[in-house]
Amino acid sequence: MEGAESGYFVRAVERHSGAELRIKQCSAGDVGCVVWDAALVLAKYLETSAFYRDGLHAFTGKTVVELGSGTGVVGLMASVLGAHVTVTDLEELQDLLNININDNKHLVTGSIQAKVLKWGESVKDLPPDPDYILVADCIYYEQSLEPLLRTMKELTGNSSCILCCYEERTIGNNPKIEISFFELLQSDFEIEEIPLDRHDEEYRSEDIHILHIKRKRHH
Ligand SMILES: C[S@@+](CC[C@H](N)C(=O)[O-])C[C@H]1O[C@@H](n2cnc3c(N)ncnc32)[C@H](O)[C@@H]1O
Repeated sequence: MEGAESGYFVRAVERHSGAELRIKQCSAGDVGCVVWDAALVLAKYLETSAFYRDGLHAFTGKTVVELGSGTGVVGLMASVLGAHVTVTDLEELQDLLNININDNKHLVTGSIQAKVLKWGESVKDLPPDPDYILVADCIYYEQSLEPLLRTMKELTGNSSCILCCYEERTIGNNPKIEISFFELLQSDFEIEEIPLDRHDEEYRSEDIHILHIKRKRHH
């Protein structure tokens, strides 16, 4: 495995322009310790031309919060593209997040910090009404669905856009979990699926979906 050193192995993530991101993953640890495919699909989607106008990326100077960041790869890509990013996860992922922030800080053109956020708990330490909220591969166990939705609801302002990427899984409880999540989500949010042909040309897959989600306006 490339770059193996003291329990870490490195996932290099190439960029359209400039040096690659180098993301450490742990060989021992929970699900947050590796880069999931949905994270790569979302990170590379952020580089697509849809986000550029007159050479300027839509994230430039914007406030971004990532939920369930794991290794931090998606948030790091956003910070490299010029956003002011807060990556969040449970306490036990903070060391890995900080290692990856430190290893890639020379590429960051916005800013990036890591914070503890357990879904369903207070979001008061996070920037209010972020412009974008990033969520990759976080719909996977039943007890988390309501707390995750509560966090999404508390964090989003009227103009916040949630970019949610998930891998559709057909095994075990997963189909049921996805259905419940989207049923709950629809009562407060509008959901637009991004067609596959607008994903990154290489980092795309039929079973990985990207959604743009906005709060419903109640009249
Ligand atoms: C499947 S991993 C995805 C990690 C990363 N987004 C990626 O796609 O590579 C799910 C992440 O959600 C985090 N997570 C799970 N339950 C959580 C909770 N209740 N509050 C906050 N984060 C949680 C895990 O620690 C893990 O990092």
